[in-house]
Amino acid sequence: MIIGVFDSGVGGLSVAQAISTALPEHQIILREDKVNLPYGTKLPEELYNLVLPILEDMERAGCDVIVIACNTVTTNIISELRVALQTPLIGTEPMVKQAAKLTKSGVIAVFATPATLKSKRYAWLKQEYCDKVAIIEPDVRNWAQMIESDEINVQEVRDIIAKVLQKNADVLVLGCTHYHWIEHTIQEIALKKATVLQPEDLVIQELRLFVHSKD
Ligand code: DGL
Repeated sequence: MIIGVFDSGVGGLSVAQAISTALPEHQIILREDKVNLPYGTKLPEELYNLVLPILEDMERAGCDVIVIACNTVTTNIISELRVALQTPLIGTEPMVKQAAKLTKSGVIAVFATPATLKSKRYAWLKQEYCDKVAIIEPDVRNWAQMIESDEINVQEVRDIIAKVLQKNADVLVLGCTHYHWIEHTIQEIALKKATVLQPEDLVIQELRLFVHSKD
């Protein structure tokens, strides 16, 4: 099977590596749109116009399924993309449902791009699953670019995580695949105080189901 993985940049590589470790028997085609990065400050229409041609190209290249390894694209335009494409799409979105179940303090923190935080899908997720949960959404709009250019300001990350821990957050949701690259740093800072969630395992579960459905 050919599994496509798409993101604006290095977030896709993180997800592709996790897939390739879990499902080594399948071929992966990874596409990134580094020319137009960051996606997190763009409008849904702009995202659609950038992403659709790339996914159409991946479809033509023979992808049996495409993982949208980008929360920004998933939360803003995955429904429209599903209408326009034949290939099944698996998305990545902030794990607020799981965070709401896990939290004991009743406070979670969601780290995501401005476009994800503004999306209708994210608003729906919060309304559906977080009515009894307080959500902190720190301003991390520079993180995707910072990680893409591999110039990680550990002190800034440390300060932002320390602030949300002070406010009692006990689940930290990584709602942008770029942040997977600093997951260990965040885990070290949050040690024993908070659980860090990101969606790679869920994507792999969904892919396994998809693969078995084709057996
Ligand atoms: N990796 C993307 C996401 O999961 C966003 C990065 C960007 O802003 O381009 O949202």
